[in-house]
Amino acid sequence: MNFELSEEHLMIEKMARDFAVNELLPGVIDRDEHQIMATEYLKKMGELGLMGMMVDPKYGGSGMDTLAYVIAMTEISKIDNSCSVAMSVNNSLVCYGLEKYGNEEQKEKYLKPLASGEKIGAFCLSEPEAGSDATSQKTTAVDMGDYYLLNGTKNWITNGTQASTYLVIAQTNPELKHKGINVLIVEKGMEGFVVGPKENKLGIRSSDTNTLLFNDVKVPKENRIGADGFGFKFAMSTLNGGRIGIAAQALGIAMGAFERSVAYAKERSAFGDKISKLQAIQFKLADMATEIEAAKLLVYKAARLKNEGKDYSHASAMAKLYASKVAMEQTVEAIQIHGGYGYVKEYHVERLMRDAKITQIYEGTSEIQKVVISRGVLS
Ligand code: CAA
Repeated sequence: MNFELSEEHLMIEKMARDFAVNELLPGVIDRDEHQIMATEYLKKMGELGLMGMMVDPKYGGSGMDTLAYVIAMTEISKIDNSCSVAMSVNNSLVCYGLEKYGNEEQKEKYLKPLASGEKIGAFCLSEPEAGSDATSQKTTAVDMGDYYLLNGTKNWITNGTQASTYLVIAQTNPELKHKGINVLIVEKGMEGFVVGPKENKLGIRSSDTNTLLFNDVKVPKENRIGADGFGFKFAMSTLNGGRIGIAAQALGIAMGAFERSVAYAKERSAFGDKISKLQAIQFKLADMATEIEAAKLLVYKAARLKNEGKDYSHASAMAKLYASKVAMEQTVEAIQIHGGYGYVKEYHVERLMRDAKITQIYEGTSEIQKVVISRGVLS
């Protein structure tokens, strides 16, 4: 197994790190506190090729591999997780789904502006009564001949306000259960489609998370992705890749907290010396370094399997399960290392702790990852 990053990967890492440190870091505390969306930064990320990283350049993407995407996600997530979740959803749920399963017209019309970052996409699966139990879709897409009549409510939708293109999962044939579900491309501005208010969240506070309401929205038949009844498979397949993105986000959060802890331990003095000389601190840092390395190997392995066209559903679930646990535990530990300073906003680790929690919830809770992993183990 080759653990070395290529020249290209190192360049992506440096580019994403420079952007995060120079552009995102200065205003991140203010954006978090006041829930200010980072629209202008997402535009810049599009210009840098970060919003459609794995998409073929002929559709406006950067044509890079999954490892490059993971590396860039990690660097952005060390600093600003409201930006990295927008990046993750756009890349691995929306662009991936359209490129892999969309037809040529859909790719020309919808994928190109999303992959170039000119527009933002959202993935709409969760509902008030269908979160983990995703087959229980209540939103309906009734077949009316040349269009679907869409009715229902979606919630917890990342990029809900900023998106222009929404991939909406809805039930067409309830008697067929999950095999009767479709996925439709819905555009902002379609009559009957209303974006509800932004949620006020614990973490990723400048990311826009909304409830979406569909009231007799007429969605043209040509906006269905794939064959009739393919919607649930579409959702599961895209989420397999999405979980690599969220695992990379969690890895970045843990690495960000760790790097800040090391720097703080080297500069903070107590009992006549730097606290990095205390074994109590050294052992914490040793555990953090080891767990980060383990998480990184799982995330990189899932990325490599995806690149190689192999089954990565269990690997991505393992990567997300473990990396999100590491992110949560290590951000708590980072606050402990910082003491009282860790509890205030200026030192950034309290924000990373608040951001870490969602990585154990969205794109499949930790419990759902265990369902996916255990099914693989027992099959
Ligand atoms: N990859 C590919 N196919 C999968 C799959 C996977 N990971 N998981 C399930 N499937 C397929 C099954 O093979 C089955 O297909 P067949 O009927 O052809 O055999 C079909 O999907 C139904 O699966 P199950 O019978 O296993 O259904 P279930 O109800 O027992 O369990 C589940 C399914 C795995 C629990 C699924 O509902 C699930 O993943 N739930 C979590 C949903 C989720 O991750 N939501 C996140 C919301 S999106 C989000 O957060 C985005 C955002 O904005 C940040």
